[in-house]
Amino acid sequence: MGPQPHGEHPKLPIPGVRNIIAVGSGKGGVGKSTIAVNLAISLAKLGHITGLLDADVYGPNVPLMMGIRATPHAIGQRIQPLSAHGVRLMSMAFLNPGDKPLVWRGPMLNSVIQQFLRNVDWGELDYLVIDLPPGTGDVQLTLVQTTPLTGAIVVTTPSDVSLEDARKAVNMFEQVRERVLGIVENMSYLEHNGERLYVFGKGGGAKTAELMKVPLLAEIPLDPQTREGGDNGHPIATAEPPTLQTTLFEALARKVVDSAREADARRRPTITVAE
Ligand SMILES: Nc1ncnc2c1ncn2[C@@H]1O[C@H](COP(=O)(O)OP(=O)(O)OP(=O)(O)O)[C@@H](O)[C@H]1O
Ligand SMILES: [Mg+2]
Repeated sequence: MGPQPHGEHPKLPIPGVRNIIAVGSGKGGVGKSTIAVNLAISLAKLGHITGLLDADVYGPNVPLMMGIRATPHAIGQRIQPLSAHGVRLMSMAFLNPGDKPLVWRGPMLNSVIQQFLRNVDWGELDYLVIDLPPGTGDVQLTLVQTTPLTGAIVVTTPSDVSLEDARKAVNMFEQVRERVLGIVENMSYLEHNGERLYVFGKGGGAKTAELMKVPLLAEIPLDPQTREGGDNGHPIATAEPPTLQTTLFEALARKVVDSAREADARRRPTITVAE
């Protein structure tokens, strides 16, 4: 049975959080966390108050990528998010440091996701970016069935296997009536001696976006500095002076802001003032 668009429980907004953007993919290792981290930092650099929830409870990578290891404290029942590069952060890795894996079963998984969304003191946020685990499993469903998103971003590489799974991810969001803001093609090409090498194939993201009738939001090249930035806690979006990659992430952030404003305008009824 597929996901139910009209579950028994209505979707509950998170008080104070204006826009929720989920970053997902059908396949693992395509760069979701890299995109989520650099998007969140770019949104913050544009002046938006931004949070980043690492919802990958199986393999949380966001703290390493954001260069922060600490234990959040609670005030009463409310967990206080940590902060790095101008972004408020929450991740399972803060609560379970080290290499011990966590095994989650259905009800526990639902409860931990709800706690991350609703028991964390996010405060007033313009954007909450959510880094999802790979695939279309329990975490993704729990989240999209209980929380209204502004929209989802589906990350893929140009290879056929990744694209096949990206289509599944787009369908999952659409089945639960969530808007897909668009596709981000990651690892699109590698620039070498002034030439572009299409390591994983060419133009797959654009073709898939056309097929699924969603925008192609960005084509992000393979870039050693981006990988290093992820490993050393200084994501490429923070680079000074900015690199090509920094500007691509800024452009992605601006598109997300435009889509959020459009969604907002659609929600608000048009008021006609009688003369
Ligand atoms: N555009 C890029 N250029 C170079 N390296 C990249 C790029 N995007 C991602 N990477 C690197 O690829 C690896 C996988 O990326 P990442 O962890 O973001 O993928 P993911 O989709 O979140 O993976 P998972 O499914 O395991 O959560 C990381 O080492 C990351 O630094
Ligand atoms: Mg990840």
